[in-house]
Amino acid sequence: MSFETIAWQDEGVVMIDQTRLPLEEVYVTCRNAEEVARAIRTMVIRGAPAIGVAAAMGVALGMKRQLDEVGEAGLSDRFEAVCRLLAATRPTAVNLFWALDRMRQVWSQANGRGLPAAEAVKLLVAAAVKIREQDIETNRRLGALGAAVVPEKARVLTHCNAGALACAGYGTALGVIRAAHEQGKIREVLADETRPLLQGARLTAWELQRDQIPVTLITDNMAAHFIAAGAVDLVVVGADRIAANGDTANKIGTLGVAIIAREFQVPFYVAAPCSTIDFSLANGGEIPIEERDREEVVAIRGQVVAPAEVAVYNPAFDVTPAAFITGIITEKGIFKPEELLPRLCRN
Ligand code: MRU
Repeated sequence: MSFETIAWQDEGVVMIDQTRLPLEEVYVTCRNAEEVARAIRTMVIRGAPAIGVAAAMGVALGMKRQLDEVGEAGLSDRFEAVCRLLAATRPTAVNLFWALDRMRQVWSQANGRGLPAAEAVKLLVAAAVKIREQDIETNRRLGALGAAVVPEKARVLTHCNAGALACAGYGTALGVIRAAHEQGKIREVLADETRPLLQGARLTAWELQRDQIPVTLITDNMAAHFIAAGAVDLVVVGADRIAANGDTANKIGTLGVAIIAREFQVPFYVAAPCSTIDFSLANGGEIPIEERDREEVVAIRGQVVAPAEVAVYNPAFDVTPAAFITGIITEKGIFKPEELLPRLCRN
């Protein structure tokens, strides 16, 4: 892969700016926690695992800056303030909160051991870098497992971008597609454009083309046509949060694809790391759904396409009921939604 979604460097957290793809390939450097939080909110970085990595790095960076600039004074208060700042960026993807919890554990263990502040901050940096590395390994593992459900000469439909850009690398849904492509199984990927922010058109098409995986772009309202015509063998999407019963929040429009796939008996898979499963929520009705700015709907890349004052809804995610999901592909295996809680909690 010839680009990096997110990396820790001496000067700060470096991210490819996903708001400018595919027109420009630009990297931005966030030099403090506030800049990382802004990058998450404005979707310079997006995708559940990627914002988890960004949040972890944001904590490490915020604490490093505090230590460099102010010294040890008020370090504990700063830690909680940085966590709150990052937690307030986007509500749906649970990976963000999972990553903050991991950072809290590292911080409280370091404090519990009475380590000097400089050592504790080094541990935070190491933990954030490790979360990034583990994410790539996890995706490779779930991709390899998921490739088994992809038939030969498969035509696969995906929605939004659950690729290397949405993670530290390799991707979840696109990880499955990448692994299947390495095995020579992919005939074509149909990428839904994914209004309002066009992650499918701008990001999925870009990253698959870049890896020479055959991709064809369709608008969201074409999915039914191609599924009904028998042009899709399998659907695979990512997830932002999976409840204990398997109900899955993913990019708005995923539910419609799942309903169509079920009607035409096309297998519908969700690919996600275990860090996307929120066992504290009984079902999808409890998943918080982010409502985003009206501008995203009334305009496309700054070009107004609707009457200025029209009323707008803009939920960023929808919830696909577990009953519509053929299987959930994780790094620990492929599960039917109802198997998640008993099987994964036993491990
Ligand atoms: O609003 P976004 O672009 O962050 O939404 C991303 C998605 O819905 C992805 O499908 C999901 O995060 C899975 S990413 C591996």
